[in-house]
Amino acid sequence: MFKKNLKINSQSSKDAIVFRVLPEEADVNASQSQTILDALLAAEMEIDHSCGGMGSCGTCLIEVITGLDCLPPRTEVENDMATDRQWDEKERLSCQTLAKSGLVIRRKNYSYKSK
Ligand code: FES
Repeated sequence: MFKKNLKINSQSSKDAIVFRVLPEEADVNASQSQTILDALLAAEMEIDHSCGGMGSCGTCLIEVITGLDCLPPRTEVENDMATDRQWDEKERLSCQTLAKSGLVIRRKNYSYKSK
């Protein structure tokens, strides 16, 4: 299994965090003010985001494998969609969720093809 470490931004070290993306087991660097979607896109990782991060499409859905307890509650727009679609509490919109250090996530609408 391959692993890759991705650097995305020149954030100050006190603001820098790292989270892991499955199934690649890629470590993505981000800042505390970035959403998970923004960090993934900056790292050039594939993720659907049809509405451009507005919280209206649901295509950027992720599953939180580790670290759910360190995330803030869902935003109102995220909570409305989660209720309508009966999502599990581990399912979050990456465009509405700030990146946190130590998270392990999996993209829900992504088919991994080994390269
Ligand atoms: S990109 Fe559309 S809901 Fe997140």
